[in-house]
Amino acid sequence: MNSQARYSGLAMLLHWTIAVLVIATWRIAEAAEGAATREAKGAIMSNHFALGVVIFALVAARLVWRQVSPPPAPVAGHRGWERTLARLVHFAFYALLLVMPIAGWVALSSFGGPISVFGLFELPPLPVGIDEARGEAIFEIHGAAGITLLVLIAIHALAALKHTLVDKDGTLFRMLPFGRVKG
Ligand code: HEM
Ligand code: HEM
Repeated sequence: MNSQARYSGLAMLLHWTIAVLVIATWRIAEAAEGAATREAKGAIMSNHFALGVVIFALVAARLVWRQVSPPPAPVAGHRGWERTLARLVHFAFYALLLVMPIAGWVALSSFGGPISVFGLFELPPLPVGIDEARGEAIFEIHGAAGITLLVLIAIHALAALKHTLVDKDGTLFRMLPFGRVKG
């Protein structure tokens, strides 16, 4: 359970694991852009697809755990608009991190391909029919959603750091197992 001022240990573990994996997933997509051949690009991107599936599962687990162990009450000193903005950004994270992998799966299925999750198991193509133009259109939107996600991550991280380093209200330590948090 969450103690009064902090997120629970499991919420912290999921938050930081998901954060690292999202950054890695993005960097892998960027690395694939520079691949010399189509085959090399495909080999690099298969890691991007597989991590997308892992992120989906972890975000789903996070949302279930959030019902069992709800977040602590907002920091007392935060203004109304700050709370609203934070809530909107957190909602956007959950929405994007669930919708982006599903969109990726639908798009890949439009080319007729399965998703191999590190060779451990495969997600078969969804029965959406082959339509490469649709697949490419979805990937285009997926890429734009990825950029939006990165911008939100930057705002989110800067806000957490500003509250912690400038306002010294301990916001960051709500997501860490150490440090002083203000109620
Ligand atoms: C890929 C990157 C990240 C994602 C997707 C992400 C996502 C989220 C989400 C969804 C929440 C809300 C948790 C909930 O109430 O269920 C949250 C909270 C939080 N995140 Fe992140 N985060 C990321 C990176 C970071 C980074 C880099 C920092 C710090 C510099 C950070 C600091 C925090 C803090 C302090 C909270 C708690 C805010 C509060 O007390 O209300 N996050 N994050
Ligand atoms: C939560 C999971 C995922 C995140 C955060 C994510 C994020 C991203 C990002 C940031 C880009 C690069 C955008 C750019 O620089 O233009 C990208 C591109 C791409 N992603 Fe994902 N992705 C995820 C899951 C998936 C999955 C599951 C698939 C396929 C099954 C997939 C397929 C692709 C493809 C093909 C591209 C290249 C798109 C293009 O610009 O044409 N992604 N993704």
